[in-house]
Amino acid sequence: MSEKENKMEKIVSLCKRRGLIFQGSEIYGGMGGTYTYGPLGVELKNNIKQLWWKKFVQDRINIVGIDGPILLHPKLWEASGHAEGFGDAMVDCKECKKRFRADHLVEDETGEDLEGKNEEMTKIIKEKEIKCPNCGKVNWTDVKDFNMMFKTQMNGVEGDIFLRPETAGAIFIEFKNVLDSTQQKIPFGIAQIGKAFRNEIVASNFIFRLREFEQMEIEYLIRPQDNWEPIFDDWLSQQEDFAMELGAKKEDLRRLEHPREKLSHYSKKTIDIEYNFPFGFKELFGLAHRGDFDLTQHTEFGNEKLEYFDQESGERFIPHILEPTFGVERSLLVALVSAYTEEQVGDPNPEDGQRDTRIVLKFPKKLAPVKIAFLPLSKKEELTNPTKELFNQMQEKFVCQYDDTQSIGKRYRRQDEIGTPYCVTFDFDSLEDKSVTVRDRDTMEQERVKIEELENYLTEKLSE
Ligand code: GAP
Repeated sequence: MSEKENKMEKIVSLCKRRGLIFQGSEIYGGMGGTYTYGPLGVELKNNIKQLWWKKFVQDRINIVGIDGPILLHPKLWEASGHAEGFGDAMVDCKECKKRFRADHLVEDETGEDLEGKNEEMTKIIKEKEIKCPNCGKVNWTDVKDFNMMFKTQMNGVEGDIFLRPETAGAIFIEFKNVLDSTQQKIPFGIAQIGKAFRNEIVASNFIFRLREFEQMEIEYLIRPQDNWEPIFDDWLSQQEDFAMELGAKKEDLRRLEHPREKLSHYSKKTIDIEYNFPFGFKELFGLAHRGDFDLTQHTEFGNEKLEYFDQESGERFIPHILEPTFGVERSLLVALVSAYTEEQVGDPNPEDGQRDTRIVLKFPKKLAPVKIAFLPLSKKEELTNPTKELFNQMQEKFVCQYDDTQSIGKRYRRQDEIGTPYCVTFDFDSLEDKSVTVRDRDTMEQERVKIEELENYLTEKLSE
């Protein structure tokens, strides 16, 4: 196993051990591509969504948020083109009945990206006798398109109802309502965070490719005649900045422009921002120039003209849209991969000369699921009572944990593993000098701080 695969395995096991992420429906044998976020995972995920919402909605005057439904009118999917085709090409192994992404099989074998060319892929898979990655046999069906939308029903609505495969649709169709109910003037954006569902042929790489996930999307409206390129570039930089706020290093990010022949007919430009995951550079976020496609289509299929009226010039026009899109789980995976650190600590063991390994999640402090842990040095009530009192006081301000199990060393390690930036220890001296020891997660340095100054001290440290 390579070092990178090993790192991924360690992250998956740490996530389970410490209550960050569990396989979905595990006691029934699991459901591929679905996960449960445990007590700490849900805090981490919420912190990521809050960071995004603050950066792109609350801190900006020209972006507003909505929270639209997952169940949307069947006509929306006709208008957007999803009903006709939203998916990947698949191929089934006739021996073991496993299904695969045909483009991935071909690309692994030939290095060529033949997405969209089903006949060619069928030929290559047969000619090159590509083996089934599951059973090793060579007995394939032809390559076929596979619609990844999950179908369901709804009382009183005719037509196919789908669980939305992206959040964008709910934004386009609320364009008029948002415009009429706010004072927004073009250029402005509408943002949404929410669930999306895709029946991926193969769910893979932990929380990278999921069947149920969350997106954070913005539809940013500009004038058709605007010089869109600098606005597009600015969005790319903002997306990269966000990745770095999650902990990504600049050198682990790269831009991949979609070649002209693979662009949708309406798109002027699409760029994926890729991150160097342990399984290679893969799409993290995307940015697309969607032209007037969406608003034109929804005007045609719906009952409302989705145009913009410019009061100053008296012009009416259908705005063009730039779409920065972000995946919540891929953001979370970047935060985990960037934070995961192993350090050799302590004196060498006299028997084998080995030092202890300390596992630390060095999350940016604002993402850490728990900010401060309160630890009495011993289980004696004279220490646990004042520690609990301090914990209760601070819990009103920060997300805190109280822990009095096992040795102090083990408790520090446990907090390191969940990325808690500060541990506060109350010891016997604290009773006398009214001070506590504050330990820093990254440096492991300890500082004595007066209890009466603790709140200010921690507030300052956590905002660094
Ligand atoms: N509205 C545009 C759109 O949905 P996309 O590239 O298909 O574009 C946007 O998806 C983002 O959603 C991706 O960049 C990725 O972060 C996330 N994403 C897409 N499919 C995913 C999946 N199966 N599992 C987890 N995240 C996914």
